[in-house]
Amino acid sequence: MQKILFDSHTHLNNDDFTPEEREERIREIEASDVGYICDIGFDMPSSRLAYEHAKKYSWCYAAVGMHPHDSQYMTEEGMEELKAMAADPKVVAIGEIGLDFHYDLSPRDTQRYWFRRQIRLANELAMPIVIHSREADREVMDILIEEGAFSEERKKMFSDGTPHVDIHCYSGSAEFSKEYLKLGAVLGVDGPLTYKNNRKTVEVVETVPIESLLVETDAPYLTPVPFRGKPNRSPYVEYVARKVAEIKGMEYGDVARITAENAKRFFLID
Ligand code: NI
Repeated sequence: MQKILFDSHTHLNNDDFTPEEREERIREIEASDVGYICDIGFDMPSSRLAYEHAKKYSWCYAAVGMHPHDSQYMTEEGMEELKAMAADPKVVAIGEIGLDFHYDLSPRDTQRYWFRRQIRLANELAMPIVIHSREADREVMDILIEEGAFSEERKKMFSDGTPHVDIHCYSGSAEFSKEYLKLGAVLGVDGPLTYKNNRKTVEVVETVPIESLLVETDAPYLTPVPFRGKPNRSPYVEYVARKVAEIKGMEYGDVARITAENAKRFFLID
C-alpha cells in the first residue's frame, strides 16, 4: 500500500448502506492505496454521519451541507447545526451545495435560496465550498459570483489567495472550464471521464492544468471503467487518476500524488 490517493468526493455516508456494508467499505479503504477521503454531506442525516466518520477515522474528512435535491427540507435549525458541525477541525468544507435543474426534486427558487444561504455560511466561516451543478451551469457560476465566492475579500481568507471552490463532477465544456479557472476554482473529475464517447470531459482534462484538478469517485455512484455497472467504491479513484495520467501523458504515480496534494491544499489539510 502506498496511500497516495485522495478521494476528494465520496459518500461513505450513503443512506442505503447496511452497517455491514459500511464496515466493508471502511475496511476496503484501509486496505487500499487511498490515504484520505472527503465524505460529503447531502442532507442533514448524511452530514451528521460524515461528521461522525471524520471524528472516528484519521483518514476521513467531512463536508457538511444540503444538496439542492433536498433543499425543500432545509430549515434555520439545520443551518445552525451545519455551523456547529463545521466548527470541528475535521469538517473541511460546506457541501455539496448548488443547483440541480435535471431532476428538479426541490422547487428551483428553494434551491436558489438555500444555495445562496450556504455560500454565505461558507464565507462567514472561511471554509472551502463543494459545488453540485446539473443543467444549471451558468446560473451556478452567476450565483457564486454574486455571493462573493470568488471575491477578493474571500480569497484573502486563505493563505494561498485562492477562493477554495470545487466544481464537483465537472461536466461542462472545456471552454466554460476556462472561466472557472480564471475565477480560481478547481474541478473534480470522476467515473464519467473513463466512459467511451465522453470526449467533452477528456478535452477538459487536456486543457486544465493538473494543479487545478481533483480526482474523486462520488461513490457509490458514477463507477469508472472497468467496473462500470457495479457500485462504486473509493479505491476505484485509482482508475480516474490512471485516466487523467493517460490523457495528460503523465505517470500515474505523479497524478495520484499531485491530485492528493491539490486536495489537501484545497481542504486546508496540513
Ligand atoms: Ni456527491
